[in-house]
Amino acid sequence: MKRPLITGLSLAATWLSGSAWRRADSGVERLFDVALYEDLARRAEQAGMDFVFRPDTLWLDPQTQATGPGTSALDPSLLLACVARATQRIGVVTTLSTSFQEPMHIARTLASLQALSQGRAAWNLVTGLDGQDNFGHRPFAAADGRYQQAEECLRVVQALLGSYPASALRLDRASGRYAQAEAIRPIHHQGPCFQVHGPLTLPTAGRLPLFQAGASDTGRGFAARHADAVFAATPTLETASELRCALRQRALAAGRQGQAPQVLPGLSLYLAPQRHDAEALHAQAHRHLDTGQRLARLAGILGAPVAGLPADRPLTPDDLPAPAGPVRSRTHAELLRRRVERERPTLAALLALPEVVASAHWQVVGTPDDAVQQILAWQAAEAIDGFIALPGGSPVSLDLLLDQVLPALRAAGALHPVASLPTFAHRVTGA
Ligand SMILES: Cc1cc2nc3c(=O)[nH]c(=O)nc-3n(C[C@H](O)[C@H](O)[C@H](O)COP(=O)(O)O)c2cc1C
Repeated sequence: MKRPLITGLSLAATWLSGSAWRRADSGVERLFDVALYEDLARRAEQAGMDFVFRPDTLWLDPQTQATGPGTSALDPSLLLACVARATQRIGVVTTLSTSFQEPMHIARTLASLQALSQGRAAWNLVTGLDGQDNFGHRPFAAADGRYQQAEECLRVVQALLGSYPASALRLDRASGRYAQAEAIRPIHHQGPCFQVHGPLTLPTAGRLPLFQAGASDTGRGFAARHADAVFAATPTLETASELRCALRQRALAAGRQGQAPQVLPGLSLYLAPQRHDAEALHAQAHRHLDTGQRLARLAGILGAPVAGLPADRPLTPDDLPAPAGPVRSRTHAELLRRRVERERPTLAALLALPEVVASAHWQVVGTPDDAVQQILAWQAAEAIDGFIALPGGSPVSLDLLLDQVLPALRAAGALHPVASLPTFAHRVTGA
Protein backbone atom coordinates (compact mmCIF):
# COMPACT_ATOMS: atom_id res chain seq x y z
CA MET A 1 0.00 0.00 0.00
CA LYS A 2 1.14 3.56 -0.72
CA ARG A 3 2.38 5.45 2.32
CA PRO A 4 0.27 8.57 2.84
CA LEU A 5 2.08 11.74 1.84
CA ILE A 6 3.23 14.22 4.48
CA THR A 7 2.03 17.71 3.59
CA GLY A 8 3.22 21.11 4.72
CA LEU A 9 2.20 24.65 3.83
CA SER A 10 4.82 27.36 3.56
CA LEU A 11 3.74 30.54 5.32
CA ALA A 12 6.34 32.54 3.38
CA ALA A 13 3.66 34.51 1.49
CA THR A 14 4.91 33.11 -1.82
CA TRP A 15 1.60 34.26 -3.35
CA LEU A 16 3.01 37.82 -3.15
CA SER A 17 6.32 37.00 -4.87
CA GLY A 18 7.46 38.74 -8.03
CA SER A 19 4.76 41.08 -9.31
CA ALA A 20 1.94 39.09 -7.70
CA TRP A 21 1.68 41.53 -4.77
CA ARG A 22 0.40 44.17 -7.23
CA ARG A 23 -2.83 42.30 -7.95
CA ALA A 24 -5.95 43.84 -6.45
CA ASP A 25 -6.67 40.61 -4.56
CA SER A 26 -3.11 40.00 -3.26
CA GLY A 27 -3.74 41.14 0.32
CA VAL A 28 -0.20 42.60 0.46
CA GLU A 29 -1.29 45.02 3.19
CA ARG A 30 -1.47 42.03 5.53
CA LEU A 31 2.12 40.80 5.00
CA PHE A 32 3.00 41.56 8.63
CA ASP A 33 -0.45 40.82 10.06
CA VAL A 34 -0.16 37.75 12.26
CA ALA A 35 -3.93 37.12 12.02
CA LEU A 36 -3.47 36.25 8.32
CA TYR A 37 -1.03 33.45 9.16
CA GLU A 38 -3.10 32.22 12.09
CA ASP A 39 -6.08 31.96 9.79
CA LEU A 40 -4.10 30.14 7.08
CA ALA A 41 -2.69 27.69 9.62
CA ARG A 42 -6.20 26.97 10.92
CA ARG A 43 -7.37 26.33 7.36
CA ALA A 44 -4.36 24.08 6.68
CA GLU A 45 -5.14 22.19 9.89
CA GLN A 46 -8.77 21.73 8.87
CA ALA A 47 -7.60 20.49 5.47
CA GLY A 48 -5.56 17.79 7.26
CA MET A 49 -2.09 19.15 6.49
CA ASP A 50 0.68 17.97 8.78
CA PHE A 51 2.57 21.20 9.34
CA VAL A 52 3.11 24.84 8.51
CA PHE A 53 6.61 25.94 7.68
CA ARG A 54 8.44 29.22 7.64
CA PRO A 55 11.81 29.73 5.89
CA ASP A 56 14.00 32.67 6.89
CA THR A 57 16.61 35.09 5.65
CA LEU A 58 18.68 37.33 7.87
CA TRP A 59 19.53 40.05 5.36
CA LEU A 60 17.76 42.60 3.19
CA ASP A 61 18.81 44.42 0.03
CA PRO A 62 17.08 47.83 0.17
CA GLN A 63 17.02 47.99 -3.65
CA THR A 64 14.69 44.96 -3.79
CA GLN A 65 12.17 46.82 -1.66
CA ALA A 66 11.52 49.21 -4.55
CA THR A 67 9.71 46.45 -6.44
CA GLY A 68 8.38 43.96 -3.88
CA PRO A 69 8.55 42.50 -0.37
CA GLY A 70 11.62 40.36 -1.21
CA THR A 71 13.18 38.88 1.93
CA SER A 72 11.39 41.27 4.29
CA ALA A 73 9.45 39.16 6.82
CA LEU A 74 8.46 38.66 10.45
CA ASP A 75 10.75 36.56 12.63
CA PRO A 76 9.67 32.96 11.92
CA SER A 77 9.78 31.64 15.49
CA LEU A 78 7.79 34.56 16.92
CA LEU A 79 5.24 34.22 14.14
CA LEU A 80 4.93 30.46 14.65
CA ALA A 81 4.50 30.94 18.40
CA CYS A 82 1.33 32.90 17.60
CA VAL A 83 0.28 30.32 15.02
CA ALA A 84 0.76 27.54 17.57
CA ARG A 85 -1.59 29.32 19.99
CA ALA A 86 -4.22 29.65 17.26
CA THR A 87 -4.19 25.94 16.30
CA GLN A 88 -4.47 22.57 18.02
CA ARG A 89 -2.88 19.81 16.00
CA ILE A 90 -0.76 21.09 13.13
CA GLY A 91 3.08 21.07 13.39
CA VAL A 92 5.04 24.35 13.37
CA VAL A 93 8.44 24.20 11.64
CA THR A 94 10.72 27.18 12.22
CA THR A 95 14.00 28.01 10.48
CA LEU A 96 17.13 28.82 12.50
CA SER A 97 20.62 29.21 11.08
CA THR A 98 23.62 27.37 12.52
CA SER A 99 25.93 29.97 10.96
CA PHE A 100 24.47 33.02 12.66
CA GLN A 101 22.47 31.93 15.66
CA GLU A 102 24.05 30.67 18.88
CA PRO A 103 23.17 27.12 19.97
CA MET A 104 21.89 28.40 23.32
CA HIS A 105 19.56 30.80 21.55
CA ILE A 106 18.41 28.10 19.10
CA ALA A 107 17.75 25.56 21.86
CA ARG A 108 15.87 28.11 23.97
CA THR A 109 13.71 29.17 21.03
CA LEU A 110 12.93 25.56 20.11
CA ALA A 111 12.17 24.50 23.68
CA SER A 112 9.89 27.53 24.08
CA LEU A 113 8.09 26.80 20.79
CA GLN A 114 7.75 23.17 21.85
CA ALA A 115 6.12 24.27 25.13
CA LEU A 116 3.89 26.88 23.49
CA SER A 117 2.70 24.42 20.86
CA GLN A 118 2.38 21.49 23.28
CA GLY A 119 4.85 19.32 21.43
CA ARG A 120 4.30 20.39 17.80
CA ALA A 121 7.57 22.22 17.09
CA ALA A 122 10.35 21.29 14.66
CA TRP A 123 13.60 22.90 13.54
CA ASN A 124 14.45 23.56 9.91
CA LEU A 125 18.23 23.72 10.13
CA VAL A 126 19.90 25.95 7.53
CA THR A 127 23.53 26.89 7.17
CA GLY A 128 22.45 30.17 5.55
CA LEU A 129 22.76 31.79 2.15
CA ASP A 130 23.82 35.34 2.99
CA GLY A 131 23.70 37.62 6.00
CA GLN A 132 27.30 37.47 7.17
CA ASP A 133 27.51 41.27 7.22
CA ASN A 134 24.92 41.32 9.98
CA PHE A 135 26.79 38.90 12.24
CA GLY A 136 30.34 40.13 12.15
CA HIS A 137 31.63 38.34 15.21
CA ARG A 138 32.50 35.14 13.37
CA PRO A 139 33.74 34.78 9.76
CA PHE A 140 31.29 33.17 7.31
CA ALA A 141 32.98 29.91 6.41
CA ALA A 142 32.91 28.35 2.92
CA ALA A 143 30.06 25.86 2.43
CA ASP A 144 31.84 22.79 3.87
CA GLY A 145 33.09 24.77 6.87
CA ARG A 146 29.52 25.89 7.49
CA TYR A 147 28.43 22.24 7.63
CA GLN A 148 31.22 21.50 10.16
CA GLN A 149 29.89 24.33 12.27
CA ALA A 150 26.36 22.97 11.74
CA GLU A 151 27.47 19.53 13.06
CA GLU A 152 28.84 21.11 16.21
CA CYS A 153 25.89 23.46 16.61
CA LEU A 154 23.42 20.58 16.25
CA ARG A 155 25.31 18.50 18.84
CA VAL A 156 25.22 21.38 21.31
CA VAL A 157 21.53 22.13 20.67
CA GLN A 158 20.61 18.48 21.17
CA ALA A 159 22.68 18.31 24.36
CA LEU A 160 21.01 21.47 25.65
CA LEU A 161 17.54 20.14 24.81
CA GLY A 162 18.35 17.04 26.87
CA SER A 163 20.00 18.94 29.72
CA TYR A 164 16.82 19.86 31.58
CA PRO A 165 14.33 17.04 30.98
CA ALA A 166 10.75 17.74 32.01
CA SER A 167 10.96 14.51 34.02
CA ALA A 168 13.25 16.37 36.45
CA LEU A 169 10.28 18.41 37.68
CA ARG A 170 8.80 17.27 41.01
CA LEU A 171 6.46 20.18 41.92
CA ASP A 172 6.03 18.65 45.36
CA ARG A 173 4.45 21.36 47.46
CA ALA A 174 4.47 19.32 50.67
CA SER A 175 8.23 18.70 50.70
CA GLY A 176 9.16 21.94 48.93
CA ARG A 177 10.96 19.99 46.21
CA TYR A 178 10.46 21.84 42.90
CA ALA A 179 12.77 19.74 40.72
CA GLN A 180 15.42 17.06 41.03
CA ALA A 181 18.53 19.20 40.64
CA GLU A 182 20.81 16.19 39.93
CA ALA A 183 18.75 15.42 36.78
CA ILE A 184 19.48 18.91 35.36
CA ARG A 185 22.97 18.71 33.94
CA PRO A 186 25.34 21.31 32.49
CA ILE A 187 26.76 20.15 29.15
CA HIS A 188 30.32 21.56 29.47
CA HIS A 189 30.78 21.86 25.70
CA GLN A 190 34.19 23.11 24.52
CA GLY A 191 34.47 22.96 20.71
CA PRO A 192 36.16 24.86 17.88
CA CYS A 193 33.07 27.02 17.21
CA PHE A 194 31.13 27.04 20.48
CA GLN A 195 31.78 26.98 24.19
CA VAL A 196 28.58 26.36 26.09
CA HIS A 197 28.25 25.43 29.75
CA GLY A 198 24.47 24.87 29.98
CA PRO A 199 22.07 23.63 31.12
CA LEU A 200 19.08 25.02 29.22
CA THR A 201 16.96 27.52 31.13
CA LEU A 202 13.67 25.65 30.81
CA PRO A 203 12.51 22.02 30.87
CA THR A 204 11.94 20.25 27.53
CA ALA A 205 9.67 17.35 26.69
CA GLY A 206 9.18 15.33 23.53
CA ARG A 207 11.23 14.79 20.41
CA LEU A 208 11.74 17.79 18.13
CA PRO A 209 11.92 16.66 14.50
CA LEU A 210 14.81 18.03 12.47
CA PHE A 211 14.29 19.40 8.96
CA GLN A 212 17.24 20.42 6.80
CA ALA A 213 17.68 22.34 3.55
CA GLY A 214 20.81 22.17 1.38
CA ALA A 215 21.53 19.23 -0.93
CA SER A 216 25.14 19.49 -2.09
CA ASP A 217 27.18 16.35 -1.49
CA THR A 218 28.11 17.63 1.99
CA GLY A 219 24.53 18.68 2.64
CA ARG A 220 23.24 15.23 1.70
CA GLY A 221 25.75 13.59 4.04
CA PHE A 222 24.55 15.87 6.82
CA ALA A 223 20.90 15.11 6.10
CA ALA A 224 21.51 11.35 5.87
CA ARG A 225 23.13 11.34 9.31
CA HIS A 226 20.79 13.68 11.14
CA ALA A 227 17.62 14.89 9.41
CA ASP A 228 14.11 13.53 9.80
CA ALA A 229 13.03 15.46 6.70
CA VAL A 230 14.60 17.54 3.97
CA PHE A 231 13.07 20.60 2.34
CA ALA A 232 14.30 19.90 -1.16
CA ALA A 233 14.52 21.84 -4.41
CA THR A 234 13.74 19.20 -7.05
CA PRO A 235 12.43 20.68 -10.30
CA THR A 236 11.84 17.29 -11.94
CA LEU A 237 10.64 13.83 -10.92
CA GLU A 238 14.10 12.46 -11.80
CA THR A 239 15.91 14.89 -9.50
CA ALA A 240 13.52 14.03 -6.65
CA SER A 241 13.92 10.26 -7.25
CA GLU A 242 17.67 10.56 -7.39
CA LEU A 243 17.79 12.59 -4.17
CA ARG A 244 15.46 10.21 -2.33
CA CYS A 245 17.43 7.11 -3.43
CA ALA A 246 20.76 8.73 -2.52
CA LEU A 247 19.52 9.81 0.91
CA ARG A 248 18.13 6.34 1.62
CA GLN A 249 21.42 4.69 0.70
CA ARG A 250 23.47 7.16 2.68
CA ALA A 251 21.19 6.93 5.73
CA LEU A 252 21.53 3.15 5.62
CA ALA A 253 25.32 3.44 5.36
CA ALA A 254 25.22 5.78 8.37
CA GLY A 255 23.42 3.07 10.36
CA ARG A 256 19.94 4.59 10.20
CA GLN A 257 18.00 1.50 9.18
CA GLY A 258 14.44 2.46 8.19
CA GLN A 259 15.04 6.06 9.27
CA ALA A 260 16.01 7.82 6.04
CA PRO A 261 14.99 11.48 5.90
CA GLN A 262 11.57 12.15 4.41
CA VAL A 263 12.02 13.93 1.09
CA LEU A 264 9.62 16.89 1.03
CA PRO A 265 10.21 19.03 -2.08
CA GLY A 266 8.93 22.55 -2.30
CA LEU A 267 5.94 22.52 -4.68
CA SER A 268 5.27 25.85 -6.33
CA LEU A 269 1.61 25.99 -7.38
CA TYR A 270 0.14 28.50 -9.83
CA LEU A 271 -3.46 27.34 -9.96
CA ALA A 272 -6.62 28.49 -11.71
CA PRO A 273 -9.82 26.70 -12.80
CA GLN A 274 -8.58 26.88 -16.43
CA ARG A 275 -5.03 26.10 -17.54
CA HIS A 276 -4.67 29.24 -19.66
CA ASP A 277 -5.62 31.38 -16.64
CA ALA A 278 -2.93 29.65 -14.58
CA GLU A 279 -0.39 30.34 -17.33
CA ALA A 280 -1.43 34.00 -17.36
CA LEU A 281 -1.07 34.10 -13.56
CA HIS A 282 2.47 32.75 -13.84
CA ALA A 283 3.42 35.18 -16.62
CA GLN A 284 1.93 38.10 -14.68
CA ALA A 285 3.88 37.21 -11.53
CA HIS A 286 7.18 37.35 -13.42
CA ARG A 287 6.55 40.23 -15.79
CA HIS A 288 8.66 42.68 -13.71
CA LEU A 289 11.97 41.03 -14.64
CA ASP A 290 13.76 42.52 -17.65
CA THR A 291 16.64 40.75 -19.41
CA GLY A 292 19.26 42.56 -17.32
CA GLN A 293 17.61 41.44 -14.08
CA ARG A 294 17.29 37.86 -15.34
CA LEU A 295 21.00 37.85 -16.29
CA ALA A 296 21.85 39.20 -12.82
CA ARG A 297 19.88 36.36 -11.22
CA LEU A 298 21.63 33.82 -13.43
CA ALA A 299 25.01 35.26 -12.40
CA GLY A 300 23.95 35.08 -8.74
CA ILE A 301 23.08 31.39 -9.01
CA LEU A 302 26.23 30.46 -10.94
CA GLY A 303 28.51 32.67 -8.83
CA ALA A 304 30.11 34.32 -11.90
CA PRO A 305 29.37 37.11 -14.42
CA VAL A 306 27.43 35.83 -17.45
CA ALA A 307 28.03 38.54 -20.04
CA GLY A 308 28.49 37.28 -23.59
CA LEU A 309 26.47 34.07 -23.51
CA PRO A 310 25.59 33.18 -27.15
CA ALA A 311 21.97 33.98 -27.99
CA ASP A 312 21.81 32.24 -31.38
CA ARG A 313 22.25 28.54 -30.54
CA PRO A 314 21.45 25.98 -27.80
CA LEU A 315 23.69 26.36 -24.77
CA THR A 316 25.92 23.64 -23.37
CA PRO A 317 27.33 23.40 -19.82
CA ASP A 318 30.69 24.55 -21.28
CA ASP A 319 29.11 27.90 -22.19
CA LEU A 320 28.38 28.58 -18.52
CA PRO A 321 31.13 30.36 -16.60
CA ALA A 322 32.89 28.53 -13.77
CA PRO A 323 32.19 30.05 -10.35
CA ALA A 324 34.47 33.02 -9.66
CA GLY A 325 34.41 32.16 -5.94
CA PRO A 326 32.15 30.29 -3.49
CA VAL A 327 28.55 30.11 -4.75
CA ARG A 328 25.65 31.00 -2.46
CA SER A 329 24.03 27.57 -2.80
CA ARG A 330 25.82 24.71 -4.50
CA THR A 331 22.49 22.90 -4.63
CA HIS A 332 20.95 25.59 -6.84
CA ALA A 333 24.08 26.03 -8.99
CA GLU A 334 24.34 22.28 -9.64
CA LEU A 335 20.61 21.93 -10.45
CA LEU A 336 20.90 24.65 -13.07
CA ARG A 337 24.03 23.20 -14.66
CA ARG A 338 22.40 19.76 -14.84
CA ARG A 339 19.34 21.25 -16.51
CA VAL A 340 21.44 22.98 -19.16
CA GLU A 341 23.25 19.70 -19.78
CA ARG A 342 19.96 17.83 -20.13
CA GLU A 343 17.88 20.31 -22.11
CA ARG A 344 20.39 22.49 -23.99
CA PRO A 345 18.15 25.60 -23.81
CA THR A 346 18.70 28.76 -25.83
CA LEU A 347 19.65 31.86 -23.82
CA ALA A 348 16.04 33.11 -24.05
CA ALA A 349 14.71 29.77 -22.75
CA LEU A 350 17.32 29.71 -19.98
CA LEU A 351 16.30 33.18 -18.82
CA ALA A 352 12.65 32.08 -18.70
CA LEU A 353 13.26 29.03 -16.48
CA PRO A 354 11.51 29.01 -13.11
CA GLU A 355 14.84 28.48 -11.32
CA VAL A 356 16.14 31.71 -12.89
CA VAL A 357 13.02 33.88 -12.50
CA ALA A 358 11.82 32.38 -9.22
CA SER A 359 13.22 29.23 -7.61
CA ALA A 360 14.41 25.70 -8.39
CA HIS A 361 11.31 24.10 -6.94
CA TRP A 362 8.96 21.61 -8.52
CA GLN A 363 6.30 23.67 -10.23
CA VAL A 364 2.77 23.10 -11.44
CA VAL A 365 1.16 25.82 -13.54
CA GLY A 366 -2.33 24.54 -14.30
CA THR A 367 -5.64 23.41 -12.87
CA PRO A 368 -6.13 21.80 -9.45
CA ASP A 369 -6.53 18.49 -11.30
CA ASP A 370 -3.14 19.00 -13.04
CA ALA A 371 -1.59 19.38 -9.59
CA VAL A 372 -3.36 16.28 -8.26
CA GLN A 373 -2.25 14.16 -11.23
CA GLN A 374 1.38 15.28 -10.93
CA ILE A 375 1.50 14.68 -7.20
CA LEU A 376 -0.02 11.22 -7.64
CA ALA A 377 2.52 10.44 -10.38
CA TRP A 378 5.46 11.50 -8.20
CA GLN A 379 4.04 9.47 -5.32
CA ALA A 380 3.56 6.41 -7.56
CA ALA A 381 7.16 6.74 -8.76
CA GLU A 382 8.28 6.79 -5.08
CA ALA A 383 10.10 10.07 -5.75
CA ILE A 384 8.72 11.85 -2.67
CA ASP A 385 7.47 11.31 0.86
CA GLY A 386 5.36 14.45 0.71
CA PHE A 387 5.71 18.09 -0.24
CA ILE A 388 5.79 21.63 1.09
CA ALA A 389 3.26 23.70 -0.83
CA LEU A 390 4.37 27.14 -2.06
CA PRO A 391 1.25 28.70 -3.59
CA GLY A 392 2.17 31.39 -6.13
CA GLY A 393 0.66 34.13 -8.27
CA SER A 394 -2.41 34.93 -6.17
CA PRO A 395 -4.20 33.85 -2.97
CA VAL A 396 -6.49 31.91 -5.32
CA SER A 397 -3.72 29.29 -5.71
CA LEU A 398 -3.80 28.88 -1.95
CA ASP A 399 -7.59 28.56 -1.87
CA LEU A 400 -7.55 25.96 -4.65
CA LEU A 401 -4.85 23.97 -2.86
CA LEU A 402 -6.82 23.83 0.39
CA ASP A 403 -10.31 23.52 -1.09
CA GLN A 404 -9.70 21.26 -4.09
CA VAL A 405 -6.22 19.73 -4.41
CA LEU A 406 -5.96 18.30 -0.89
CA PRO A 407 -9.51 16.85 -0.79
CA ALA A 408 -8.92 15.23 -4.21
CA LEU A 409 -5.62 13.74 -3.04
CA ARG A 410 -7.34 12.40 0.05
CA ALA A 411 -10.15 10.92 -2.03
CA ALA A 412 -7.48 9.21 -4.16
CA GLY A 413 -6.00 7.62 -1.02
CA ALA A 414 -2.77 9.64 -1.19
CA LEU A 415 -3.24 11.35 2.19
CA HIS A 416 -4.02 10.12 5.67
CA PRO A 417 -7.69 10.41 6.72
CA VAL A 418 -8.07 13.65 8.72
CA ALA A 419 -10.04 11.99 11.51
CA SER A 420 -7.22 9.61 12.47
CA LEU A 421 -4.10 11.69 11.75
CA PRO A 422 -1.19 10.68 13.99
CA THR A 423 0.75 13.47 15.72
CA PHE A 424 3.00 15.65 13.60
CA ALA A 425 6.18 14.37 15.29
CA HIS A 426 5.12 10.77 14.70
CA ARG A 427 4.33 11.45 11.05
CA VAL A 428 7.76 12.98 10.43
CA THR A 429 10.01 10.81 12.59
CA GLY A 430 8.02 7.57 12.62
CA ALA A 431 8.76 7.40 16.37
C1 LIG B 1 15.38 24.21 -0.78
C2 LIG B 1 16.32 25.06 0.02
C3 LIG B 1 15.80 25.96 0.96
C4 LIG B 1 16.64 26.76 1.72
N1 LIG B 1 16.09 27.63 2.62
C5 LIG B 1 16.90 28.47 3.34
C6 LIG B 1 16.36 29.42 4.25
O1 LIG B 1 15.14 29.52 4.46
N2 LIG B 1 17.21 30.22 4.91
C7 LIG B 1 18.57 30.15 4.74
O2 LIG B 1 19.29 30.91 5.38
N3 LIG B 1 19.12 29.24 3.89
C8 LIG B 1 18.32 28.41 3.20
N4 LIG B 1 18.88 27.49 2.32
C9 LIG B 1 20.36 27.42 2.20
C10 LIG B 1 20.92 26.16 2.83
O3 LIG B 1 20.68 26.10 4.23
C11 LIG B 1 22.42 26.07 2.60
O4 LIG B 1 23.10 27.02 3.39
C12 LIG B 1 22.85 26.31 1.17
O5 LIG B 1 22.01 25.68 0.24
C13 LIG B 1 24.29 25.80 1.00
O6 LIG B 1 24.30 24.41 1.20
P1 LIG B 1 24.58 23.44 -0.02
O7 LIG B 1 26.03 23.70 -0.38
O8 LIG B 1 24.37 22.04 0.55
O9 LIG B 1 23.61 23.80 -1.09
C14 LIG B 1 18.06 26.68 1.54
C15 LIG B 1 18.57 25.78 0.60
C16 LIG B 1 17.73 24.97 -0.15
C17 LIG B 1 18.33 24.02 -1.15
